[in-house]
Amino acid sequence: MLSPLAPTPTMTQQEVESYRDRFAAGLSQTVPGRKEIVVAQARGCTLKTADGRLYLDMTSGIAVANVGHCHPRVVEAITEQAKRYSHVNVYGRFAIPEQVEIVERITSVAGPGLTTAYLTSSGAESNEGALKLARKFTGRPKFVAFQRSYHGRTFGALSVSWREEWRQPFEPLLPEVEFVPYDDLDAAAAAIDHRTAAVIVEPIQGEGGIRIPSDDFLPGLRSLCDAAGALLVIDEVQGGFGRSGKWFAHQHWDVRPDIITMAKAVGGGLPLGAIISTPEIFATFVDPPLSHLTTMGGNPVACAAGIAAFDVIASEGLLEHTERTGAYLRERLESIRAQYPDLVADVRGKGLWCAFELTVEAQPVANELQERGVLVGSVLNSAGTIRVTPPLVISPAEIDVFVGVLRGVLEAIASGAA
Ligand SMILES: Cc1ncc(COP(=O)(O)O)c(C=O)c1O
Repeated sequence: MLSPLAPTPTMTQQEVESYRDRFAAGLSQTVPGRKEIVVAQARGCTLKTADGRLYLDMTSGIAVANVGHCHPRVVEAITEQAKRYSHVNVYGRFAIPEQVEIVERITSVAGPGLTTAYLTSSGAESNEGALKLARKFTGRPKFVAFQRSYHGRTFGALSVSWREEWRQPFEPLLPEVEFVPYDDLDAAAAAIDHRTAAVIVEPIQGEGGIRIPSDDFLPGLRSLCDAAGALLVIDEVQGGFGRSGKWFAHQHWDVRPDIITMAKAVGGGLPLGAIISTPEIFATFVDPPLSHLTTMGGNPVACAAGIAAFDVIASEGLLEHTERTGAYLRERLESIRAQYPDLVADVRGKGLWCAFELTVEAQPVANELQERGVLVGSVLNSAGTIRVTPPLVISPAEIDVFVGVLRGVLEAIASGAA
């Protein structure tokens, strides 16, 4: 039941090996080793390799291809925009209709008061801007972040990202960051004070293992921020743009952020991000003028792709589809857990932002799934977790394919054959 792909020229094995060699030789990598897959094409939930193998993609390039790879409306929007113009000015200098259109769309679903957005090119860049904005708006030095958090790898974003081994070699980072346990309001209350510029939080922790907080956590953080005069920054980089079955994952709870950051899926597969906030908070970037800048943020071709992706989600009922197929996926995973309770410890998720927890090491299981034609991922800050974040257009039949392959892999492990 893999999505049909148009024929592409197949490379010879020699050409495939040459790309793998040249990739290893020429591209600076942060993970050692030669890559297994040379990509030729991707469509819907299917990825095709240069030597003609098909994979069911249950990752979406880590929550990016929400409307599926190469959605025809996104491809057409990119093509048409590229024919008109791509980059023509530093962001904010000219009025670019595509920037207006994407900002109007994302702010229309962002909740009361959040009517303004600043466009970026990535999640880390969105979080950098949000931290600067919070610091300048409040005039305060301190940030509160959470254990297992991930907000990106640039200096500011890294400063509020939890894992010590990735922060420590780059110190000194931002000087006043306090990490508290996620989903622990007492700990948050002890940390948030009159020196706190902002609390930065993921509505569901992505790299932390798709961890869903208790119902009172985000509303409780809102109250604590209000009491201390701190801003609440909600990082929707991984969870936003429909992934959880709502436009933004925090909308599963009654909470109003001061700042939302987003990236990943908002560009429909191209580099685009956004910081969404109120006009009052953003006014601080105008005083003095040019307090924040980017050359490529809000690139018109990326905006055109984002507009098309937004319209696909809205007009094709993808939020409802995501909620329904997400529930189906979790139901199927639960049945696998019931079958292999010694191997699968937990299943969790909202919409198609899902994970299951293994009692054995995750990477060999992910590798075996890949061997059998299914792509899944591990997460950065939770060792036994397998992330399942397929394109939101996935069908129940494709979910059945995934579950069937997973069952085969777990059966092989249970019987000692893998
Ligand atoms: C919640 C969250 N914030 C920020 C980032 C960083 O985004 P980027 O890789 O686009 O810089 C990520 C990336 O995985 C993320 O999951």
